[in-house]
Amino acid sequence: MNLGKLGQALTAKEIFDLISDDLQRVEQQISLESVASADAVTTIGRYLQSSGGKRLRPALLLLSARLIGPASPSAIRMGAVVEIIHAATLVHDDVIDAAQTRRGRPSTNVQWGNHTCVLAGDWLYMQAFQIALRERNFRILDLLIGLTQMMVEGELFQLERIGRIHVTEADCMELVHRKTACLFSVCARLGALVAGADSAAEEKLGEYAWSLGMAFQLVDDVLDFTAHEKVLGKPVGSDLREGKVTLPLVYALERATPEERAQVETILRDRNYDQVPFRQVRAMLDKYRGIERVRERAHAFTEKARALISEFPESSYQRALYAVIDLITDRDH
Ligand code: IPE
Ligand code: IPE
Ligand code: MG
Ligand code: MG
Repeated sequence: MNLGKLGQALTAKEIFDLISDDLQRVEQQISLESVASADAVTTIGRYLQSSGGKRLRPALLLLSARLIGPASPSAIRMGAVVEIIHAATLVHDDVIDAAQTRRGRPSTNVQWGNHTCVLAGDWLYMQAFQIALRERNFRILDLLIGLTQMMVEGELFQLERIGRIHVTEADCMELVHRKTACLFSVCARLGALVAGADSAAEEKLGEYAWSLGMAFQLVDDVLDFTAHEKVLGKPVGSDLREGKVTLPLVYALERATPEERAQVETILRDRNYDQVPFRQVRAMLDKYRGIERVRERAHAFTEKARALISEFPESSYQRALYAVIDLITDRDH
């Protein structure tokens, strides 16, 4: 059987159709659980929920659960938990990055200010943990607490490197791992866990999703340079404007001339493209194949994910998890 062909035959719609009822329940659960006695928190939660977002993390959790066994209320609850944790990280992240836009709208920090957003993010984290606590399962709490600490450490690791040109490939990979791949991995593991998977299957699904997450974030770093703002929902060139040197640029800088390095230093110092236009950075990336090399790295991770998911018995969910891989690398936002 040619799994590749079968996998690619599934479209995004077909993948999401497989779990659309479950995803709808996750949305209901999120609505139900995002009500605080402080209006600001409820409003911010609703604002985020209604602003779109790909819902990749709950989708990954639900597909992983379905791969192992039948639907369960636990999988729905955990789907809500991971999306709420994701929302909390975004609220805090936009404060840290002084972001202006998220999902095509003014970001929450712009709408409600930093103080309120820090507290709303805290509340959302705690709400997610409270929902998770209802499972009365220490393994779940263990995974979620470890994950949150990893992500927070990742944000701190990134803060230490803000504005610095001397960022290594290893630094970038560490960040991609902490910021994104860990959460993807935990989503798949939680799905497997609540569906009663044995530890080998849970481990394998976790590794699959981790590879997927690495590829996803590497593609995100590429899109920051190549996408169109309207499609991306946030301005392009944001990473460098925020003082972040990501992998495409690290690769280009390895080969850049002293003049080109100085131009990047200027943007990092000014935090704008007034003196050195964005198109100049793009030209430098093209010249030194920065984008291409990161795409190649991402490809290696997707190949690993493909190999891992192919080890599971064939089913519509297995094919969906296989097809998700292409969805992630071919995306434009
Ligand atoms: C945004 O994640 C944060 C990153 C890890 C790059 P998504 O791109 O999944 O965000 P939404 O939920 O679809 O908006
Ligand atoms: C993503 O970080 C947010 C987290 C995973 C904590 P970034 O700052 O790199 O992503 P965007 O560009 O704001 O979505
Ligand atoms: Mg950010
Ligand atoms: Mg950030």
